[in-house]
Amino acid sequence: MLILGIETSCDETAASVVEDGRHIISNVVSTQIDIHKKFGGVVPELASRAHVELISYVIWEALEKADCKLFELNAVAVTNSPGLANALLVGTETAKALSFSLSIPLIAVNHIHAHLYANFMEHSIVCPVVGLVISGGHTAIFYVENCNNYVLLGQTYDDAAGEALDKVAKMLNLGYPGGPEISKRAEKGSSKAINFPRAFLGKDIYNFSFSGMKTAVARYLECNSYKNLADVNDMDVNDICAGFQQSVIDVLIKKIVNSAEQKHVETILIGGGVSANTEFRKQLSEICKEKGMNLFFPSLKLCTDNAAMIAGLAYHRYKKRKFEDLSLDIHPQLQV
Ligand code: KG4
Ligand code: ZN
Repeated sequence: MLILGIETSCDETAASVVEDGRHIISNVVSTQIDIHKKFGGVVPELASRAHVELISYVIWEALEKADCKLFELNAVAVTNSPGLANALLVGTETAKALSFSLSIPLIAVNHIHAHLYANFMEHSIVCPVVGLVISGGHTAIFYVENCNNYVLLGQTYDDAAGEALDKVAKMLNLGYPGGPEISKRAEKGSSKAINFPRAFLGKDIYNFSFSGMKTAVARYLECNSYKNLADVNDMDVNDICAGFQQSVIDVLIKKIVNSAEQKHVETILIGGGVSANTEFRKQLSEICKEKGMNLFFPSLKLCTDNAAMIAGLAYHRYKKRKFEDLSLDIHPQLQV
């Protein structure tokens, strides 16, 4: 069964052909980083315009690389939620047009569920498990009953983990996206030099709040009378990055490990762009080893946004015949 996946929820235009939910035949991602980096973050209107310009080329390239003709596709799948409204619309309307013209089923996929599903494409996982999605727009914990069933346990009240990293990077003039830059600078600094606060939220174990943690960095910069960033030397920037990254890692690790214990499951899945962070992977792996828990991350190419995870998860929706008609709408918010 060959499914074409389409992903345009944020700043990556992506298309992929996947066979039987696991076998990635092609996986094309066109990133818009160069368009957005001068603004220090994604500009929604520019993102949707770029998707319009790129989508046909990206789809043709995915089909060409897969040596697959349009008439050989069994279905077309698309991210219709959550994400930037106009960006989601580009992918969704393109998928509808393909479904209609080729007379093949149209399948809607939730982007956040697909980030966790990426693990099922590469590993053998026995459910139930708990999953943590850490991306630029979302931070959420799910109880995963099977690879097709994701129950939301909690999410962030304000900023997502990736968003907080991106905003701190912006404060420090480190460019966009900030997560990889903070990670590089943190390697050269000490995570113990500055003790930034951690928002564990007491008994509220499934939810997050990163906004105050991010603001603590802004206050630190003010209180240390850095009037402009030229006053911050390289060593200080490295320590700020290491200290802030560690505060985010501590919260993520504590909450997902507590969630697994609370739900009496032995396996944790991680997904989303921030799961590419080396220090987070290392520290969580050590803790899971100590506790005898199984831990799975997707490979780096499936951590950040891609359409393979969309086509992959769509296969399971196909088997349950969860098809959409041409009235399919977008849902920018994460649906509970
Ligand atoms: O999942 P993703 O590609 O897009 C969204 O769905 O948002 O995640 C993008 C986020 C950005 O905030 C980016 O800074 C962060 O993932 N990110 C990282 C790393 N690579 C990407 N954060 C920390 N360390 C990294 N190595
Ligand atoms: Zn994502």
